[in-house]
Amino acid sequence: MSKQLSVREAVVGRRSIKLFNGQPVDRDVLLEIIEDATYAPNHGNREPWRVVVACGPELEKLHNLLRDTTIPKWQELSEETLAKQMQKFTTPGAYVFVIVPEDVRQKERLEDLGAAASFIQNMQLLAWDQGIGSCWKTPPFIDAPAFRQALGVQAGERVISMLQLGHYDQKPQAKARKPVEEIVTVFGQ
Ligand SMILES: Cc1cc2nc3c(=O)[nH]c(=O)nc-3n(C[C@H](O)[C@H](O)[C@H](O)COP(=O)(O)O)c2cc1C
Repeated sequence: MSKQLSVREAVVGRRSIKLFNGQPVDRDVLLEIIEDATYAPNHGNREPWRVVVACGPELEKLHNLLRDTTIPKWQELSEETLAKQMQKFTTPGAYVFVIVPEDVRQKERLEDLGAAASFIQNMQLLAWDQGIGSCWKTPPFIDAPAFRQALGVQAGERVISMLQLGHYDQKPQAKARKPVEEIVTVFGQ
């Protein structure tokens, strides 16, 4: 798909997509989005991020992990009930887990988190430009030891986003933002 959006259109028009239609996401498109997103600002060119992706055949394994992690006694549910409870995990076409180093120095850690957030928003905007929706999610289980181990997260690293990506049928309404006057203080006043 050719690029159509201005930067402003992408920034203002992007919405978090929480209902996906189950269409697959092309791996090459996803990898291109990730590569382009690395041009995010980052102090000292530390590029303080790495990602674990699932997009294609490996999604099934991830779904099993998400099921085992989030649905206690899932074996006792009917196939239909389980499928319904799993819908929020099975309908995205791709996942990007974003992992940042936890620098022991407070300033660097904060910088790295900020840089990684820019990297994530870049991915969201680039995906949006390709007609792919996304939602940055931080469910508590991303910090669970078993989940971290399954992703290969090392000591001294933190998962800061479970980014779900996929195609969608409906764009949600934007939630109103605070008026700019409310967030701006003119220096000295
Ligand atoms: C750090 C961060 C964590 C988020 N975690 C979640 C989450 O766990 N679940 C969720 O549904 N949305 C999550 N969101 C998405 C927000 O709900 C969404 O960005 C917000 O409602 C504004 O909507 P918009 O992105 O469409 O402008 C998160 C967003 C950020 C930046």
